[in-house]
Amino acid sequence: MSIVIGPTTRIAVLTGAGISAESGISTFRDAGGLWEKHRFEDVASPEAWKADPALVWRFYSERRVQAASCAPNAAHKALAKLEAKMGERLFLVTQNVDALHEASGSREVLHMHGELFKSRCENDACGSKPFLDIATYFKATELPKCSTCGSTVRPHIVWFGEEPFEMHRIKRAVQASDIFITIGSSGSVYPAAGLVGEMTYRKQNGEKVRSVYVGPEAPQNSAEFDEILLGKAGDVLPTLFEIRE
Ligand code: OAD
Ligand code: ZN
Repeated sequence: MSIVIGPTTRIAVLTGAGISAESGISTFRDAGGLWEKHRFEDVASPEAWKADPALVWRFYSERRVQAASCAPNAAHKALAKLEAKMGERLFLVTQNVDALHEASGSREVLHMHGELFKSRCENDACGSKPFLDIATYFKATELPKCSTCGSTVRPHIVWFGEEPFEMHRIKRAVQASDIFITIGSSGSVYPAAGLVGEMTYRKQNGEKVRSVYVGPEAPQNSAEFDEILLGKAGDVLPTLFEIRE
């Protein structure tokens, strides 16, 4: 099976934790995944941050340590190569907070759930911007403070109960695409899992659009996809695209 890309074809790609699994980054819901070891309510919610910011920072510091030792795999590289050929006709949105798409050479990556190596002031009224931050904070006595207003600095991550970034732009890009591909996502977290529904809707209106899922098992929202390609991202992606210019 291959996906043929003509001179005007537009593709939107949504990636999830599964694309980074072969790079050694833990997924959330697989056996041994992060949400088996931690309750997300305790480490990835505004309530957790309020109750115990030091615990939240320890959790994301561990994530930073793990991600810093990982390198992009063949799937990230295939998407970077595709962008080099398609330019802005490829739209790449990821639920992942790691930087492996960028590390493999992708230039335009929308991180809808935030970025692990960025932090920002917890005070929304402060006005300071998210900034690059590779530091780790394991000690409760050394929580980082905002240099502008003195409030505590938080991970630049979208937590449960918070709005993903740039949903309007993401939806518009999916609506403007001929093909929508999801790679390595269990399809259980919304609104990301609902994006394929944009294609379902357009098909019902007679548009010739196509949606494809790539991963080792069918996702929870599999009924919405036209095709399910069972396999590891690193095995499937390198030969998936056929460019016909
Ligand atoms: P999940 O952990 O829910 O799902 C990972 C998916 O990757 C599963 O469906 C696996 O089958 C698949 N997978 C495993 N190995 C793979 C491989 N080698 N190639 C391709 N796929 C593979 O991760 P997400 O769906 O990304 O949110 O999770 C969505 C959100 O839930 C995350 O962004 C995170 C989490 O809570 C926040 O932190 C806000
Ligand atoms: Zn501030």
